[in-house]
Amino acid sequence: MHFELSEEQIMIQQAARDFANQELKPGVIERDEHQKFPAEQVKKLGELGFLGMMVDEKYNGSGLDAISYVLVMEELSKIDASASVVVSVNNSLVCYGLEAYGSESQKEKYLKPLASGEKIGAFCLSEPEAGSDATSQHTTAEDKGDYYLLNGTKNWITNGSTASTYLVIAQTHPELKHKGINAFIVEKGMEGFTVGPKENKLGIRGSDTHSLMFNDVKVPKENRIGEDGFGFKFAMKTLEGGRIGIAAQALGIAQGAFELATKYAKERKSFGKPIAEHQAIAFKLADMATQIEAARLLVYKAAWLKQQGLPYTQAGSMAKLFASKVAMDVTVEAVQVHGGYGFVKEYHVERLMRDAKITQIYEGTSEIQKMVISREVIR
Ligand code: CAA
Ligand code: FAD
Repeated sequence: MHFELSEEQIMIQQAARDFANQELKPGVIERDEHQKFPAEQVKKLGELGFLGMMVDEKYNGSGLDAISYVLVMEELSKIDASASVVVSVNNSLVCYGLEAYGSESQKEKYLKPLASGEKIGAFCLSEPEAGSDATSQHTTAEDKGDYYLLNGTKNWITNGSTASTYLVIAQTHPELKHKGINAFIVEKGMEGFTVGPKENKLGIRGSDTHSLMFNDVKVPKENRIGEDGFGFKFAMKTLEGGRIGIAAQALGIAQGAFELATKYAKERKSFGKPIAEHQAIAFKLADMATQIEAARLLVYKAAWLKQQGLPYTQAGSMAKLFASKVAMDVTVEAVQVHGGYGFVKEYHVERLMRDAKITQIYEGTSEIQKMVISREVIR
């Protein structure tokens, strides 16, 4: 067992760190305030090869490993989780889903522009009445011979308005329950497909979250992913990797808050000395550092298992469950270390605290991660 990163991984980590400081940090407060999508920054992330990191080079990807991917997620999330969620969805849900389960022609047509960052993707599973209970899909995809007729509403879709390619889960054979569900590639601009208004959110406010409406949308048969009825398994397998990306996002948010809190604690003085020299504050920093390190080990382990081709369902859920709790705990404490200054926007930690909360909700709530983990450990 060894814990060192390779030279290439260190280089990629540094590139992501530089990008986050030079390109994401300026304007991050304003983008949060005005719910502005980081469009220019996402374009540059594509140029750097960060939107199709693990995709094979023959499909315009960067051909990198899963550890490099979590390193990048961590670095970007230290500064701007609204930008990093675009990276997470595009890489680990959309590109992965297409590369692992798409047909050759789907990869040529849809994966290539997504992996290069020319286009952005969205993953559409949740509905107004089906979040955690993901098998109870109300969106229908009626088989009409050479096309499917798609009807229904998807909720909370990340990259909802900026995406061009949408992976949409829908029910084709309700009598078969989850075995009747399919996954489809839907293009923006298909007749009958409309995007609802942007959600006004607590955190990741720069990320564009929308509902999507499908009204008699004709989806060509060749846009179904996998065999008839494969859609629910497709969603679950894809989310397993997605959860590692969100765990890395949570880790980055925690690390970002910790670094700000440590710096501030060394500078801010009370009762004649830096607050870092008061044991109550020093011990908070010690607790934060320990929690973050434990989360990092779980995140890297899950990514490593994925990279080795070993089972990672449980490891990914554990990493997400734990890292998202650490992100919440650490960011709350980082605000506390900053005192009143932590409560205002220019010190960044209040935003990190608001952004941390979503990591306990999306890609399966913490309760759902416990369900997945408990089933695995009991089995
Ligand atoms: N891999 C392969 N198959 C799986 C699987 C996995 N990890 N998990 C479940 N399945 C299969 C089961 O084997 C079963 O199939 P068979 O009957 O053929 O054996 C089928 O799926 C149904 O499984 P369950 O009986 O376990 O289903 P359930 O109703 O109990 O639900 C669940 C399981 C884990 C709770 C699932 O519904 C779930 O993950 N819910 C959370 C949904 C979620 O994470 N949504 C995220 C949306 S995307 C997002 O949020 C993106 C973003 O924010 C950026
Ligand atoms: P519910 O499922 O209604 O859950 C409500 C509460 O009940 C939660 O605390 C939950 O843990 C708990 N609960 C439910 N069932 C159980 C149970 N069996 N046991 C114990 N507790 C339970 N979805 C997508 O498909 N694509 C996206 O891109 C996407 N992006 C998102 C972005 C944002 C900003 C947000 C807020 C959500 C996004 N989601 C997306 C949806 C997200 O995945 C769901 O919100 C999440 O899965 C929870 O579903 P829900 O909101 O319907 O809550």
